[in-house]
This record gives sequence, structure tokens and C-alpha cells, in this order.
Amino acid sequence: MTDRPRVVLGVGGGIAAYKACELLRRLTETGHDVTVVPTAAALEFVGAPTWAALSGNPVSTQVWDDVHRVPHVRIGQTADLVVVAPATADLLAKAANGLADDLLTNTLLTARCPVLFAPAMHTEMWEHPATQANVATLRGRGALVVEPAEGRLTGADTGKGRLPDPGELFEVARDVLARRDSGNALDLTGRHVVVSAGGTREYLDPVRFIGNRSSGLQGIALARTAVARGAEVTLVAANVSLPEPAGAKVVHVETTAELRDAVLGAAATADAVVMAAAPADFRPAAQEQAKIKKSADGSVPPLELVQNPDILAELSQHRPRQGTVVVGFAAETGDEHGSVLDHAAAKLARKGCDLLVVNDVSGGRVFGSPDNEAVVLDASGDATGVPRGSKAALAHVVWDSVASRWQNG
Ligand code: CTP
Repeated sequence: MTDRPRVVLGVGGGIAAYKACELLRRLTETGHDVTVVPTAAALEFVGAPTWAALSGNPVSTQVWDDVHRVPHVRIGQTADLVVVAPATADLLAKAANGLADDLLTNTLLTARCPVLFAPAMHTEMWEHPATQANVATLRGRGALVVEPAEGRLTGADTGKGRLPDPGELFEVARDVLARRDSGNALDLTGRHVVVSAGGTREYLDPVRFIGNRSSGLQGIALARTAVARGAEVTLVAANVSLPEPAGAKVVHVETTAELRDAVLGAAATADAVVMAAAPADFRPAAQEQAKIKKSADGSVPPLELVQNPDILAELSQHRPRQGTVVVGFAAETGDEHGSVLDHAAAKLARKGCDLLVVNDVSGGRVFGSPDNEAVVLDASGDATGVPRGSKAALAHVVWDSVASRWQNG
């Protein structure tokens, strides 16, 4: 017996099966006890010895091995999490219809723990109404079905259907596992949330820009955690050079004007918008079409700036939809005019948002750190302190606060 979290990794018969090896590695390296249950078709792509060696556990595809231990029931019953990656169209159809003709489909019927499907297939198969209906059925029954990524598929095709980055799938799996006893782990199901991340660039000419150091880590953590809680997520990423979170629709932008268009566009159907990005407050009054040259006499060109639109204030004051919860971030320092929280409360009122996540950056704290520490201010006056911890932990508090605003109307 083991007290390590028990994960079943179901592997469907798709070319992305090779990426599941990386997911398996991540799970075992972080102390999970993983039983791999491939389908017979999956073994055409990656053989049983690979799964056995990487997991340290025996591997079987069908119910006739080890029968005295009743594996078709026991594996599902004793799991803390089942992850199916890749989930093929065939596997989704079987799961949605409750078929049980091999060890994996039996396991899916006996599991009472959270089940995470990561579909991967060609775009046509993913978009087919039959597949979409099966996905809706599985979601309706409480499974987490992560949207496939867009990009290069097998052969010459590109489109939606790629298995997300295995490292990112691992993050979702870990999050689901951590929240499995929380009562309603998928509490954002049926909600569309928009998150902005990163820092904008304002171009002076085709090669030079004014930018900032925002990495996008907090925005990525917000997107990841929202996916893990069942939301449909649009991530508007300004110059973020990090792996794309699994399951999120990612819109890449560079400038504040592009960020504004993308956020306002996505906000039309959003239940929440979280502005974790750092848009530049100013941009050059003019952008030169050609590279600015040094002048022979050594004179320096003037730099005239104009103010950018304030996206958070615009969203808050002209809500694209009634009931959309709008969340801002603020990095503040205390001074002779007031404390960090005084300034933050004034900013929340000025911008008109519902929640403001306040970082105390006195003495250069927070920047570039994998951790964060904050206070979540609510327009009603409530303040929730979030002790120093991971950006994912802060992200969960933000979603808790958003969900409680939805509940209280
Ligand atoms: N923000 C925005 N559009 C801008 C600038 C900021 O939507 N052009 C958003 C940020 O994403 C963040 C919040 O506003 O959620 C707070 O940004 P901050 O720079 O602290 O606000 P400012 O109004 O610029 O306040 P300050 O004068 O203190 O810099």
C-alpha cells in the first residue's frame, strides 16, 4: 500500500501517445503512484515496456490479466485521479456511452474520483457534432474535458486538435488533484473567463519599443487554475514567452491598442475579466515607419508620449454584459498620503472594478518572483489577505472571490 496520490493514466490510440510519456514522467517524479492503462491501439504507438518502465507498475490493456485481483474494478475504485491523454474520438464516444470493452473503459466506469480528458485528434473529428455531443455529455457528468490546442497536426495539417503541452497538462492534473476534496472542484464550469497577461510594447519604429518587465506568470496561473476549475478560458497574452496553458484559447497581442481590442472582443461573452496584464500607460505620439537613424550632429530625437486608454476603467464603466465581474491588479507603495490599502481602495473606486488584487511593492517586492503575496479588495469593502505563496494559490483566491460575487449577484 502507498499513501502517494494514485493516478491512473489512460492512454488512447493516437499519435500524441508519445507525449503522454512526458506527462507520466512529471507525475512519477513528483511522487504520484501512476498506473498506466493504455488501449490496445495506444500500444501500436508506444509499447507496454515504455509505460511499465516509466511508471514502475505493470501495464495491461484488457481485463483478463491478473483476474484474481479484479483489476477492472480495483484500478478505478482506488484512484485519486484518472487522466486520459490523449483521449481519441473513439474513446470519448465509448466513455460518453458507458461502453466497457477493455480495461480503460471499465476503469472509467468504476472511478469515483475526478476524471480529466485531454482530447487529441484531427480538427474534423474534434469538430464533428458526434464528438462535440460526447464532450458535452462527459462535461455534464462532471468530467473535466480540456480543449485541444491549435497548431501542427500529424501530416501536413494544422488546426485545433493537438494535445496540449504535457508540462501544462501536468499542472492541470496537479491542480485537480489538490482540489479533489473541496466539494465542488469544477465550480467554474459553464463560465467564460478572460484573463490578460504580460506587458505591452509600444513601438517607436519597426525595431524599438517601450516595454515593461511583466513576465505573464500571474496571468498564466490564473488561466491554468480557471481551466482546472472547469471554465472556458480566453487568455490575452501580451509578449508572453511561456508555454501556453492547456485548454485555454490564447490570443497573442503586442501593443496596448491590440490588448484593448482583444480583451473587449472576448469580454462580450465573458462572465469575468481579470486584467493581470501590465499595459503601458503611455505610447509614442508617432510610430516611425522606418528605423530611426542617429543624426550626424549628435542631436537626440525628441520623445513625445501620449496616454493609452485605460482598459480596466473602460470595461468597468461600460460593462459589455450585465453581471460580468471585472478584476484589476495594482502594485502599490505606501507614502505620506496613505497606506498601500488606502491607495488601493481609492484606485478601485476610481476605476470602478469589482475586485482589486493589491501587491505591496515597497522595496521592490514581488517583481520577478515565482511567489506572490496580496490582498484581494472587494468593492463592498471586504479585504482578503493572501499570505506569501505560489501564484497559483493567489489565483485560486481570486477565482473564489469572483465565484462568490457571482453567487451574491
Ligand atoms: N490597466 C489597464 N489599462 C491601462 C493601464 C492599466 O487596463 N492602460 C489595468 C492593469 O491591467 C491593472 C490595473 O489597470 O489591472 C492597474 O494598473 P495601474 O498601472 O496600477 O493603474 P494606474 O491607473 O496606471 O495607476 P497608477 O497611476 O498608480 O500607475
